[in-house]
Amino acid sequence: MRLDFPPKYTEVIGAVKIHSLQKVYEIDSGYGTKTKNSQLNNSTISFGNKKISKICNEMAIVIPVKNEKLSLLEGVLSGVPNECLIIIVSNSQKTPVDRYSMEVEMVKQYSQFTNKRIAIVHQRDSNLGRIFHKLNYSSILDNYSQIRSGKAEGMVIGILLAKMHGMKYVGFVDSDNYFPGAVNEYVKIFASGFAMSKSHLSNVRVCWRSKPKVANNRVYFPRWGRISEHSNKYLNDLISYITGFERDIVTTGNAGEHALSMSLAENMDFSTGYSVEPYELINILEKFGGIINETTNSTKDFVEVFQIETRNPHFHENKGDEHITGMLYESLNVINNSKICNTEITKDIKNHMIMLQHKANNGSIKLNGNNNDHIMAPINTIPIDKFNELVIDSPQLLHLFNVQ
Ligand code: GDD
Repeated sequence: MRLDFPPKYTEVIGAVKIHSLQKVYEIDSGYGTKTKNSQLNNSTISFGNKKISKICNEMAIVIPVKNEKLSLLEGVLSGVPNECLIIIVSNSQKTPVDRYSMEVEMVKQYSQFTNKRIAIVHQRDSNLGRIFHKLNYSSILDNYSQIRSGKAEGMVIGILLAKMHGMKYVGFVDSDNYFPGAVNEYVKIFASGFAMSKSHLSNVRVCWRSKPKVANNRVYFPRWGRISEHSNKYLNDLISYITGFERDIVTTGNAGEHALSMSLAENMDFSTGYSVEPYELINILEKFGGIINETTNSTKDFVEVFQIETRNPHFHENKGDEHITGMLYESLNVINNSKICNTEITKDIKNHMIMLQHKANNGSIKLNGNNNDHIMAPINTIPIDKFNELVIDSPQLLHLFNVQ
């Protein structure tokens, strides 16, 4: 893969470096030279297949799924490079139709054809809830000691399973993507981001080149989705306030497709549901930006955030207006609730949220979230050997295919 390098500019906030958007020049730049893993010229860097493959070997791809078409999920699996460990965390229904069993059966057959390493687990399995309860990780549990529903909750389970399997990196790819080729590009972008990183704490965020829509019998290629436009704006307002310079560095506020190095992932808090992606940036700034607590501003342990623009368009299931309103509300809410969010910005966000509430009330939709109750603690508080032991002791919990 060949990308812009170095990034055109970098915003430095305490120990956080947020790089500006980098473009992909070649999705595949060949095998690479025998002596070097990467080739650099004046304005681009390329990583050969050997280097990408090496990183993929140490990377888990977590795929959250909730009642998606089986053929879509299978397509997504086909796009993930063979070297990666795939972890599917499902919250699909078990009654009246057992969609989860159908997913397990499909994965079983698929893994036989491809020899891919795949693990699949159900997020609401009571055994998993019991394990978290036993390990005192209660921030993921509901009042009945079951794991809450929510995409972020699925991601946290995925991170933990990736850590249990000794993975160095963890990437997230949605299961409702119509283009397997795009999935393949996302994973190679993750690997290239980690290859570029000079820190063990890194976050690679994908910016879609476009999100095609069909209207009036024509295909359009709009640049921004209906959520990212707003969350990017408020995140940029926040960064501009912190630095004192007006900036538009953030282009990936709601990047569903993104990756984290395990050293960063295991130290982060995660926000519930769909607020997870903007909150990751907020949490990185809270913990490493030196804004709240000077001691967190370390120059040794700096965080690098890469934002990389795909060549492929992003084409996924359209889940409707109400869904978008809910996701935007959750996203704005976590920015608004942050300790680092200044009152002027808070005022704008609150007004925006009130507008969304009116919209939702007209359609009688219930919007989630008004507080920080559902922030999940860093997973490094969980003793991983003990977690492993408890998972092994629950034989029906985790289905493993081609995984040792
Ligand atoms: N495990 C699990 N648990 N998975 C879930 C859950 C859940 O409770 N809810 C949704 N998912 C899965 C879906 O099946 C899909 O694969 C993925 O999570 C994303 O959910 P969608 O409901 O399809 O979200 P979206 O496509 O509208 O939004 C995506 O893009 C946004 C940016 O535009 C998501 O990735 C958002 O997080 C992102 O902000």
